[in-house]
Amino acid sequence: RLRREEKAWKINNLAKDFFQSILLQHSEAAAAREYIHGRGINANIIKDFGLGYAPASWDTLMKFMQSKGIGVSDLLKVGLVVSGDRGVYDRFRSRLMFPIADARGRVVGFGGRVLGDGLPKYLNTAETDFFSKGKILYGLDRARQAIREMRYVVITEGYMDTIAAHQYGMANTVASLGTSLTKEHGRLLMNYTREVIIAYDADAAGVAAAVRGLDILQELGCRVRVLSLPEGKDPDEFLRARGLDQWKRQVENATPLVEFKIQRALAKYNNGPLARDAVLEEVLPALAAMPGELEKNEAIRLVAARLFTSYHVVAEQLQKFSNSNR
Ligand code: GTP
Ligand code: MN
Ligand code: MN
Ligand code: MN
Ligand code: MN
Repeated sequence: RLRREEKAWKINNLAKDFFQSILLQHSEAAAAREYIHGRGINANIIKDFGLGYAPASWDTLMKFMQSKGIGVSDLLKVGLVVSGDRGVYDRFRSRLMFPIADARGRVVGFGGRVLGDGLPKYLNTAETDFFSKGKILYGLDRARQAIREMRYVVITEGYMDTIAAHQYGMANTVASLGTSLTKEHGRLLMNYTREVIIAYDADAAGVAAAVRGLDILQELGCRVRVLSLPEGKDPDEFLRARGLDQWKRQVENATPLVEFKIQRALAKYNNGPLARDAVLEEVLPALAAMPGELEKNEAIRLVAARLFTSYHVVAEQLQKFSNSNR
């Protein structure tokens, strides 16, 4: 099994270098270079993140690999070629390539972005037991040292968000690649820190995905805070429009999970008569899952204040909730 994985890492790494050499040198990649330039990505980042370009033809990669003695069956296994009506062909064509590495920097898959508005916007390596987005955090190999030093991690949704954050100096940033956060993600992060800031897109999809992930992380014992961007923006857009200092301010002012949930529930019920029950329903599970007594007490006090009630009332509700879930 390990030998099979080692072979896959080697093939993917070879593909990474091949795609990068095309991006940097080939005339066919002129539009891709232009695109990258237009998005503000610099040469260091291209190198650090191993960005590349997969050309339009159906067999450029396949032929290159064959010249290196790597056959179709191995390429099929790692998902770099697919088998269909027209035979076997390169999976990634006319796409900007983002190698996806595990925490130790071994390339396990790729994401490929169209240069324009085509669909799908991103094409990823197909899910296998070898490559699963639920077990990978994009950029973690490049972020883990900074996460240790800075003692917190910022989780974004997208490739471009994490790349922008690194380019601007926030190397403690990773991406969950559009999937919901999983327990595996949480356990992976907890090798480095328990302080987590979620910086998802300020659109409905981003907020919904964030909310699902938050509880999972908290239940594992992370301290979760939520960064709220202006409507419609994502971290990449924010950083490039407003710069590092304003981004840092957003990070520093990220909202603790319990407060975030209170705000959401209050907004949903327009602060009306149903809001109180809704807030409790929303926050009790989060409170119950909080590992530290001090933090829990602080959170109970916060909820009580926001509901214009006493610590005692909230604590009692929490007790009831905990008993009923035993
Ligand atoms: P840009 O438009 O290049 O700035 O990308 P983005 O990261 O802002 O994209 P978006 O907010 O739409 O999606 C967030 C992340 O979800 C992406 O980085 C991808 O990892 C993933 N994603 C987005 N669109 C697709 C898609 O069409 N297919 C798949 N498999 N994943 C996608
Ligand atoms: Mn989005
Ligand atoms: Mn989208
Ligand atoms: Mn974006
Ligand atoms: Mn986005």
